[in-house]
Amino acid sequence: MARILITSAIPYINGIKHLGNLVGSQLPADLFARYNRARGHEVMFICATDEHGTPAELAAAKAGKPVAEYCAEMHEVQAEIARGFRLSFDHFGRSSSARNHHLTQHFAGVLAEQGLIREVTEKMIFSVDDNRFLPDRYIEGTCPNCGFDSARGDQCDNCTKQLDPTDLINPRSTVSGSTNLELRETKHLYLMQRALKDKLEAWIDSKSDWPILTTSIAKKWLNDGDGLQDRGITRDLHWGIPVKKGDQPWPGMEGKVFYVWFDAPIEYIAGTAEWADANGLGDEAWQRWWRTDKGASDVTYYQFMGKDNVPFHTLSFPATILGSGEPWKLVDYLKSFNYLNYDGGQFSTSRGRGVFMDQALSILPADYWRWWLLSHAPETSDAEFTWENFQASVNKDLADVLGNLVSRVTKFAKSKFGDAIPEGGEFGPQEAALIADLGARVREYETLMAQMEVRKAAAELRAIWVVGNEYLQSAAPWTVVKTDPERAQAMIRLSFNLIRLYAVLSSPFIPDAAQTMMTALGCADWSWPEDIAHAMRVLEAGHGFQVPENLFRKITDEERSDWQTRFAGKRD
Ligand code: 2FM
Ligand code: ZN
Repeated sequence: MARILITSAIPYINGIKHLGNLVGSQLPADLFARYNRARGHEVMFICATDEHGTPAELAAAKAGKPVAEYCAEMHEVQAEIARGFRLSFDHFGRSSSARNHHLTQHFAGVLAEQGLIREVTEKMIFSVDDNRFLPDRYIEGTCPNCGFDSARGDQCDNCTKQLDPTDLINPRSTVSGSTNLELRETKHLYLMQRALKDKLEAWIDSKSDWPILTTSIAKKWLNDGDGLQDRGITRDLHWGIPVKKGDQPWPGMEGKVFYVWFDAPIEYIAGTAEWADANGLGDEAWQRWWRTDKGASDVTYYQFMGKDNVPFHTLSFPATILGSGEPWKLVDYLKSFNYLNYDGGQFSTSRGRGVFMDQALSILPADYWRWWLLSHAPETSDAEFTWENFQASVNKDLADVLGNLVSRVTKFAKSKFGDAIPEGGEFGPQEAALIADLGARVREYETLMAQMEVRKAAAELRAIWVVGNEYLQSAAPWTVVKTDPERAQAMIRLSFNLIRLYAVLSSPFIPDAAQTMMTALGCADWSWPEDIAHAMRVLEAGHGFQVPENLFRKITDEERSDWQTRFAGKRD
């Protein structure tokens, strides 16, 4: 039994995520966690909300709530949606937790002891009326290059020129609109990543099995331009983790907080500690996942994320870990995803374009979305959600192939043989051929799942459903029963075992449907089909069953076009 640690990128607290965010991190991580549990491995699967930073503060202000209260509420909203999608986190934590405060301050302290933190004095724009320093993108003004009157402090969206906030003509705060801005000196801490470049490079080079998407992004950031830059890890904000050196004050840093990207990945560790706390366990319970001196050296650690998060996880977070000089677990395999686009464009939060996680669940159950998203995961390139494709996949794969097999077998058996699995006949050459085919396919499915080849695994699973349907079609127990009822009974007995096999194999993708199938079979034996011939005899003659409700319903053309209009978003 292996020990497998899985983390999904932690979603920002402000707002509900769209399906593109879901398929780029939480959902494939869940697939992998469920699969590994099904194989009997010991799994720890952690996610959390990413609660700090200016966007969280501003979203709270917009909602008219204190930021702590806003985050607590939004955390619950996101947790509820995650449950709706059946994301099987062992713990869904919060980056604002006491555990993360403590660990983040601990890491900053040890990095300072290792001589890897330097203090830098810089000038930044301070908004007197807002009583805060403003990040570049929260300052607007007239572009000195093209005269556009809403250029941001980091870039002009009209002429694309990169700007410095001090370049803007008539700058104003986008928080309040105030023009009462001044340049003030402020001191910040920088993590000296350059000093860690060789170590980081050697570590990345040792990862020959990582997806190309992951390593190419990592290497680009390692070597581009001047190469790896030292990174500011503190901010002048009110909301966040106060800057401290361990549990000691940090002279000169009073009133400042750590940068959200410094504390967010540390929450992976803190979230595991929160899990231990929530379960009344001691520190050793989480440390055995994270400290190689406390049992974690036999853990394999997998991270899941969208491609925009890769630099932070291949350089910044490893710099924190390696720089600490302490025996923390580093990631072993980093699975990254491209983007999912929406119906000929991009998902857009501000324009309400595309399907967001809460909306998705309000129109169809989780399994429909899980199946489409995973079977179309943006692995080798960006992918696109279209309603036509969604309708076709659901109606074909789920309703016609899988759902139909379950309903045909159970209905036919009930009408001909009653409420229990029939006992007549023996498996013959047709069944032997099916079992051999399934055996090879299941081994291939296992390989693809272990390699996190999400799309290919979905395709193999679908093929496994198809061969069962083809068997049933050609064996045709409904015809055979007229001349050789014993043979038909053997075919049906095998088909019940096929349903159980499909429930077990499909449960990482469509857990609710899998449960419905097992309930109909009156079966609680989820054992993995290590040996297919054996798996085809688990349910024996005389075992009772029920005809389940339709597993999947079809999406009508009318619904499709209705949803297409509903989720098209506001015009600019
Ligand atoms: O892109 C995002 O949604 C970030 N909140 C991901 C953070 S992942 C990690 F570092 F915690
Ligand atoms: Zn411009």
